[in-house]
Amino acid sequence: MISAEKIREDFPILKNITYLDSASTSLTPKPVIEAISDYYYNYNANIGRGAYKTAIKTGQKVESTRFKIASLINASEEEIIFTQNTTNAINTVINGYPFEKNENIIISDVEHHSNFIPWINLEKRSKNNLSLDVKIANADSDGIIKPSKIRELIDNNTRMIAITHISNSIGSRQDINNISKIVHEYDDVYLLIDVAQSIGHTKIDVKKINADFIAAPGHKGLLGPTGTGFLYGKKELIEKLSPTNLGGGTVTNLKNKEFELENVPYRFEGGTQNISGIIGFGKAIDYINDLNISKIEKHSIYLTKELYKLLSEIDNVIVYGNIDNIFNIVSFNIKNVNPHDVSKILDETENICVRSGYHCAIPSLDIINANEGTVRASIHFYNNLDDIKKLANSVKEISEFFK
Ligand SMILES: Cc1ncc(COP(=O)(O)O)c(C=O)c1O
Repeated sequence: MISAEKIREDFPILKNITYLDSASTSLTPKPVIEAISDYYYNYNANIGRGAYKTAIKTGQKVESTRFKIASLINASEEEIIFTQNTTNAINTVINGYPFEKNENIIISDVEHHSNFIPWINLEKRSKNNLSLDVKIANADSDGIIKPSKIRELIDNNTRMIAITHISNSIGSRQDINNISKIVHEYDDVYLLIDVAQSIGHTKIDVKKINADFIAAPGHKGLLGPTGTGFLYGKKELIEKLSPTNLGGGTVTNLKNKEFELENVPYRFEGGTQNISGIIGFGKAIDYINDLNISKIEKHSIYLTKELYKLLSEIDNVIVYGNIDNIFNIVSFNIKNVNPHDVSKILDETENICVRSGYHCAIPSLDIINANEGTVRASIHFYNNLDDIKKLANSVKEISEFFK
């Protein structure tokens, strides 16, 4: 178990609030904030543009973050593209992949809108030329996508399966290894995994999973600053993607309206990057590695189960998902009380921060019959058992009040 007490000193904000909304964005530890300040105080320059020492140092710091990300997920540096967030990483694939006529893509109904809307939009845009089809794998009532569902839907025209590792609305953890095995029984069918809710909470090894692409935030489980994220893609696959953000830093030559693209990953990183954010992101990965991801995972599993159990014991509370399958996220409702009201009362009475509503995953709420949304508590290593008990006790009081 992680001793959350010592660690909490790195998050001064925790003196004032009980933070149970890390699935939205995580708290930022002091060393990460200090790394960002250090850049602005001591070596503030742009990257890839200057021959002077300060600019070179900045470039090296940014590249060292790329190296840390690659080591974290067992990839190579050229396979890591910096993005602003997970959404931006997913869209880089969707808008860049050379899909062909009549191909189809499989997603699921537990996706975050970021891995749903851009795909159905692609389908709409392709109506008059490529006629792409987006098929939707339905999860079971606990929010689990059975690998057999994917098998049922794959056919000779399937080009990509794009699914989430952990549902952000229910917390259900998908059997990504078995889904990957099924996907890779087929030639040239690719697996894109949205690891927004898993990276930093559990070990992600792209080689072990055999992921073709992963889309990841820097600002959630990995504790990076907001405005950071990355796309991993197998080198031969990111080389197939057309970059959509061309401009400064993306070409090696330009003459008579002809240009030569930079190597991957730089051809995707047009314009000035979020330099301070990327530097902070690198420091955040050090922080997570020092804590040890396996320990983080054990700590979160323990707290997730405790919270699930405590909430389930309250008479008129519905807790969603299956206790043996959910991870980091506990979604619930007090019967006949709007989730926003619950969240507001928790905040006003006890300074407890939880998310409420649709969680940008509207289709997934039909699965659990929670049409007004849910209250969602989400956990990271800086949470402790007191946080969990405090939330459960407050929910009990609210539920008694509304009985
Ligand atoms: C599963 C999932 N995918 C994608 C996203 C979008 O992430 P970002 O805000 O980094 O674009 C989220 C955000 O909560 C998420 O939970």
